[in-house]
Amino acid sequence: MDAIVDPGDETRPGLRDWKAWFAEYDNPGSSLAQRLAVVQRGIQRALDEAPAGSIKILSLCAGQGRDLIPVLAEHPRRADVRARLIEFDPAIARVARDAAAATGLDGVVDVVTGDAADPALFGDYAPADLLLLCGIFGNITEADIQNTATRAANLTARGGTAIWTRHRFDPAVIPRIHGWFTAAGFSDLWESDSELPTAVYVAGNRHERNPAPLPDDTKLFTFVK
Ligand SMILES: C[S@@+](CC[C@H](N)C(=O)[O-])C[C@H]1O[C@@H](n2cnc3c(N)ncnc32)[C@H](O)[C@@H]1O
Repeated sequence: MDAIVDPGDETRPGLRDWKAWFAEYDNPGSSLAQRLAVVQRGIQRALDEAPAGSIKILSLCAGQGRDLIPVLAEHPRRADVRARLIEFDPAIARVARDAAAATGLDGVVDVVTGDAADPALFGDYAPADLLLLCGIFGNITEADIQNTATRAANLTARGGTAIWTRHRFDPAVIPRIHGWFTAAGFSDLWESDSELPTAVYVAGNRHERNPAPLPDDTKLFTFVK
């Protein structure tokens, strides 16, 4: 699919260069590696529990696909999956695409270079059985978190799971995010261990309602960091 922003536009004002950020995943003791393990367990659980039939997965701001691709590569349901990963940075998206190809997932995982906040890029994957919102909520305003949690109800199938992350340096935000998911029709499924570093919080929420069609007129969020 064509990118809806110029993929060469890495100097877009306000857009941080995230390429170096992923190196911490290779440090096994790092907060990021611990967060990754929790997210991967959540993905594993969602795939294990998915009813028979096709499984749609949508990952917004997918980065290198470090969470989804290794789990999917080993999972017995992989042939049932169609996943769209959306990542703005073309070099980072290329890493995800290469990882998918290296694990034989190129017909399963579709990595799109573009703005994951734009519904035009993922409407055909909604409602998804698994929605990944990882590494987003620490980088957008609370108003945009609320909007994204609300829109998650349009993006997630009934019975589907939304997995999201947020650091806990300002812990009062976490219950507010849960409240927005609850108001949108999600129940709390699981959350990460409170003993994990403050940088780590991961939750899985299950959508309990039939999703309304996705409004396609406004962006979900804008990164401010
Ligand atoms: C904190 S990283 C998280 C990556 C991945 N979800 C993970 O948890 O490993 C944020 C990622 O979002 C990407 N990003 C930032 N703004 C974006 C946007 N509007 N659309 C798509 N990707 C975006 C960055 O390039 C970066 O790869």
